Amino acid sequence: MPKWLKDAVFYEIYPQSFYDTNADGIGDFNGIIEKLDYIRGLGCNALWINPCFDSPFKDAGYDVRDYKKVAPRYGTNDDLVRLFDEAHKRDMHVLLDLVPGHTSEEHEWFCASQKAEKNEYSNRYVWTRSWGESAQGFPYVGGESERSGVYLLNFFKCQPALNYGFYRVDRPWQLPVDHPDCIATREAMKDVMRFWLDLGCDGYRVDMAASLVKNDDEKKSGTSAIWKDVRRMLDEEYPEAALVAEWGVPQQSLKAGFHMDFYLNWHLNGYSTLMRDYENHENGENHSYFKKDAGGDINRFLKDYLPQYLDTKEDGYFCLLTCNHDTNRPRLALDIPELKLAYAFLFTMPGVPYLYYGDEIGMRYLDLPTKEGGYSRTGSRTPMQWDESKNLGFSKGDAADLYLPVDPAPDAPTVSGQENDPDSLLNTVKALLALRHREKDLQADAEFSQLQTRIGQPFVYRRGDLVLAINPDGSEKTCTLPAAGEVIFSIGSAKAEGRTLTLGAQSFAVIR
Ligand code: GLC
Ligand code: CA
Repeated sequence: MPKWLKDAVFYEIYPQSFYDTNADGIGDFNGIIEKLDYIRGLGCNALWINPCFDSPFKDAGYDVRDYKKVAPRYGTNDDLVRLFDEAHKRDMHVLLDLVPGHTSEEHEWFCASQKAEKNEYSNRYVWTRSWGESAQGFPYVGGESERSGVYLLNFFKCQPALNYGFYRVDRPWQLPVDHPDCIATREAMKDVMRFWLDLGCDGYRVDMAASLVKNDDEKKSGTSAIWKDVRRMLDEEYPEAALVAEWGVPQQSLKAGFHMDFYLNWHLNGYSTLMRDYENHENGENHSYFKKDAGGDINRFLKDYLPQYLDTKEDGYFCLLTCNHDTNRPRLALDIPELKLAYAFLFTMPGVPYLYYGDEIGMRYLDLPTKEGGYSRTGSRTPMQWDESKNLGFSKGDAADLYLPVDPAPDAPTVSGQENDPDSLLNTVKALLALRHREKDLQADAEFSQLQTRIGQPFVYRRGDLVLAINPDGSEKTCTLPAAGEVIFSIGSAKAEGRTLTLGAQSFAVIR
């Protein structure tokens, strides 16, 4: 386990939308470099950058055309290496996004694979032998290749599935996982990983990490074996490199060798009840736990979270996120006072927290037409809002050329608008992250347990020797502490007298 993860706090950057330094309307590596001090100042000491590689951008870069070359719109490979170096100077780490399950249909491997004549890449993707042969229920494309047969897709039409083999082989066109050509796919992906690790990258966020082996069993044994093999390589060659899975099942991913997994926003799971509970109800009713007066119930989170946390706490980190590029911004349902409490919770839980760019100022989800395969996700991918200047400080280019429009609202939140207000969301995030770095008991490894979870009462929990209490409700509440203590941090109002803690409306406290 890389030691630096214990006290890591990640900042996710969607590079298109972060900061544009050459006025072409698209964010770039130089922009990220210029803003490293800002990110470090927030309290984030690690970055996850969404795919920044050469791509036709039919899925925002998750359709990679060349794994070893950055997309010219962001800069050059040398610029990315400079970003690694500048980050390291500030004691920060950088994860790139690895997309191992599929490539773009324009990747040179695929161009070779679709040729009629057999070649080294014929089996790099999954093909049936003839166009009439059933694809066995897998999504596929036919009619576009020189060779006979159809090929399987991993996600959109532009993303043919790479071939890591079938765990259960039940058709002649399906290769077993130990077929030399399937092993070659895995080795090619390790080669891609080494390429950037050798240049200074600190690890990867792995896209659709559970998707590699087809016809896998329920436990994902086939796919897990591949990641165990990758982890062995990392432990031997890059012991400080970190791997985080987009998987959402820590009992599988962390046992398969990942250091971290994301608690993803899945319908009706515990995480979805915290900030996006409107998605769980047909009539849009919102019972998100952090919504003031919505009668939220923390047990809906805990009964899903706790077994996963308890089963895996020795294996790695199950991570909480404010949002990501696939999810509605939390501001869609929560206002600023509600967001403060949500973040207080997310940033004081076990595992490694992830802050999505712009959530620190409460950027809005915008209702926008789809861009680069974003669909409804597009509204969470708009340019970062830095200040009151042109394009809210994102770009000096023409508004018409921006990757996506900035928030047109007259009260669009900006960094400069919040910097000098001690009570702003931005400064609350800074205070919370500073607290987390100060207190070992709030970091990734310290034990978590629940102390009081009754509906309508504050949620009281323990991290190490600290006791934390949250009252998301609009009225004052009291609760009993396990022992008398002193309030060392608060949002809103909190008073401890003996073992009684009084929490004002929408308040949070840490007690020692
Ligand atoms: C992951 C990414 C998403 C992408 C998909 C296909 O879910 O987070 O943005 O569209 O995989 O690569
Ligand atoms: Ca640019």
